Amino acid sequence: MTRQILVLGGDGIGPEVTAAAERVLRILAGRHKLALAFEHALVGGACYDATGLFITDATMAKAKAADAILFGAEGGPKWDSLELTGPPETRSGLTRLRRELELYANLRPIRPFEALLAHSTLKPEIVRGVDFMIVRELCGGIYFGEPRGIERKGDGLLHGFDTQDYSEPEIERIAHASFALARSRRRKLCSVDKANVMESGILWRRTLTRIGERDYPEVELSHLYVDNAAMQIVRNPRQFDVIVTDNLFGDILSDGAAMITGSLGMLPSASLGTPRPDGRRPGLYEPVHGSAPDIAGQGLANPLGAIMSAALLLTHGLGRPDLAQIVERAVARTLEAGIATPDLGGKAGTGEVLAAVIEAL
Ligand code: NAD
Ligand code: IPM
Ligand code: MN
Repeated sequence: MTRQILVLGGDGIGPEVTAAAERVLRILAGRHKLALAFEHALVGGACYDATGLFITDATMAKAKAADAILFGAEGGPKWDSLELTGPPETRSGLTRLRRELELYANLRPIRPFEALLAHSTLKPEIVRGVDFMIVRELCGGIYFGEPRGIERKGDGLLHGFDTQDYSEPEIERIAHASFALARSRRRKLCSVDKANVMESGILWRRTLTRIGERDYPEVELSHLYVDNAAMQIVRNPRQFDVIVTDNLFGDILSDGAAMITGSLGMLPSASLGTPRPDGRRPGLYEPVHGSAPDIAGQGLANPLGAIMSAALLLTHGLGRPDLAQIVERAVARTLEAGIATPDLGGKAGTGEVLAAVIEAL
């Protein structure tokens, strides 16, 4: 059975890094009798310029039908400054995909490669052996809460406002995803919130505690306030196994945690929904970084976050963790050979890193 992969490169370095990830997938598919069909479509600013929308209904339909989506990045100065109104789904293709496909569980693994320990901005003895997963809730919270807007209010002043809103079922499903993941790892789950200030944080903490006591007694649950969590991640990142947190905190903590690995360009992610009746699980795979307008079009982008996202696609989207391991080993060998892009202190371009990974596959 042929598996359909929808490739949405997007803007800036997005298409540069998804092209590299697709090459890796095509080579593995050819060698291991995996029938893959790739289709490409516009998303983000590139799509807006062509159609006036950040993603079209036709592309949404393809995304829903695909076995997996390989995503690059969207956005850039040209589109970020547009004065758009309306719900977030109409202002970003990525946000619409996450919301309509209900990709609520965003997995962001933080695992530095041995060859890059000295390149982390933290000391090698702090980052050696780090292996944790940030589970970011991706379909709720302040990204989507209503009301939101910029309006003149009764005091005569202009207000910009957003709403952090989580329903109990939204917290429950991300809790189950995180506990189940922790149970398959080192059985430690740290829930991160701001329950000392936010009502949504109180419900978050209460729900995590209830579900843990009821359904996952073998998992050790702890709680941190997000400000302390940010500090703990740089103080002693080895203490963590799985971290679960809301949409906004997860966004911020993962970019910070990226520097454990040496570069934001190294971090992959998988955004997963609930398995469909036929057992297939909707999933979008993308590097954590953005479109990097400062280096776009120069052939300097680090493709490894995208290539490692393809590895997550092999595991979660195609049920081939064995092939994902081949990709990870090839990336490790490339880095051991000292072949890296400038964000990692190297001199290689995107193409040279890709060539080295392919050589090592
Ligand atoms: P960014 O992640 O694009 O870049 C931050 C810094 O990291 C830049 O200096 C960039 O050069 C560097 N960087 C990022 N990825 C890299 C890679 N693969 N190789 C080498 N260096 C890399 O964040 P930003 O500058 O805040 O945002 C730029 C645009 O991207 C904005 O429009 C933003 O909204 C968008 N964005 C999109 C996504 C996404 O599509 N998932 C994620 C983050 C930001
Ligand atoms: C990410 C990005 C997105 C987010 C933006 C581009 C909407 O920063 O995927 O981490 O904030 O979720
Ligand atoms: Mn982000």
